Amino acid sequence: MTSEWTDGTRAVRAGSPGHAAGDPFLPGPVFAGTYHLPGEPAGPYQYGRYANPTWTALEDAVGALEGAAGTVTFASGMAAVSAVLLGLTTPGDVVVLPGDGYPATRTVGEHLAARGVTVRLAPTAGDEIEQALIGARFVWLETPSNPGLDVCDIERIATLAHEQGALVAVDNTLATPLGQLPLALGADLSVASGTKALTGHSDVLLGYVACAGAELAARVRSWRSLTGAVPGPMEAWLAHRSLSTLQLRVDRQAANALAIAEALLGRDDVADVRHPALKGDPAYDVATRRMRRFGCVVSFTLADADTARRFLGALELVAEATSFGGVHSMAERRARWAGNDVPEGFVRFSAGCEDTGDLITDILRALDAASSG
Ligand SMILES: Cc1ncc(COP(=O)(O)O)c(C=O)c1O
Repeated sequence: MTSEWTDGTRAVRAGSPGHAAGDPFLPGPVFAGTYHLPGEPAGPYQYGRYANPTWTALEDAVGALEGAAGTVTFASGMAAVSAVLLGLTTPGDVVVLPGDGYPATRTVGEHLAARGVTVRLAPTAGDEIEQALIGARFVWLETPSNPGLDVCDIERIATLAHEQGALVAVDNTLATPLGQLPLALGADLSVASGTKALTGHSDVLLGYVACAGAELAARVRSWRSLTGAVPGPMEAWLAHRSLSTLQLRVDRQAANALAIAEALLGRDDVADVRHPALKGDPAYDVATRRMRRFGCVVSFTLADADTARRFLGALELVAEATSFGGVHSMAERRARWAGNDVPEGFVRFSAGCEDTGDLITDILRALDAASSG
């Protein structure tokens, strides 16, 4: 596909095969654990754990959107995260991880530490990371961070990290490749949970690693072949099918998220409203320089755990669920999970694709109900 086309077109056409008469628009999933393989092993499809044509099509599509030299899909976001952190580091390395991002990534860091890797935690926003980068071999960024929604300057940190000889990976789950292009900003790897906005229908677990160089992609692929955290063909196909609506969904979700954030700003029963595109947000300046779309998540804090519970219970259109990026709006009190350093009344709200006015009506009504006890 030529690079002159813009996001919506590229998302619709990503990884599409040619137009031969009789071809389907997207070939169906190939269910194969074993392939015919006479004689010496040759060709791309030798055994089901190594490669599958449905993964190949999805990897081409995601790779085109991320601007990658090679992309490897996984069974889940955490399979992708751990393949990178466990497969590309060795004992003695210094690894920098976000202190405030997705907690399971830090838990993988604990496993690294047990294997002789020195793990340094640095917050996503601010300059503390500069000190942490000294002597680092591997740097992991998560921007915007989940759930705090801080944003960092990938380009600046990647330059500093490369001066130390470190590889840089960015968790691009929240932004998606239509929101931010980590590889174009200098990162070596863009890693994501496709479970969220990429697939967007809350019906698939998926992860991927998009690599700036083919040699790096080969290392990640060989780790996947060894450890076997491969996506099912049906999941890979559903993910590919979902890509064609990616721009429609992320544009609508981001517009809804911003409208919700603006509606919440005026209320005295809601504190610390965060969204990267909200004017005055601590992340606004860097987000508007480095991102092209700002994501579906809004975060805010209510008086206490009970008020947050009453708010979530009073919502009619919004599911109480622990994810984000789906076409259905969902929200949760994040402190109900261990490992999140947030106030008891902190709510992570994921804006879906419902009508903006309906969502705002539902949220304001639920806030009134929660505040009146
Ligand atoms: C930022 C981020 N990275 C990675 C993951 C892990 O993804 P999965 O649940 O698909 O394993 C999540 C899940 O919430 C996440 O929010």
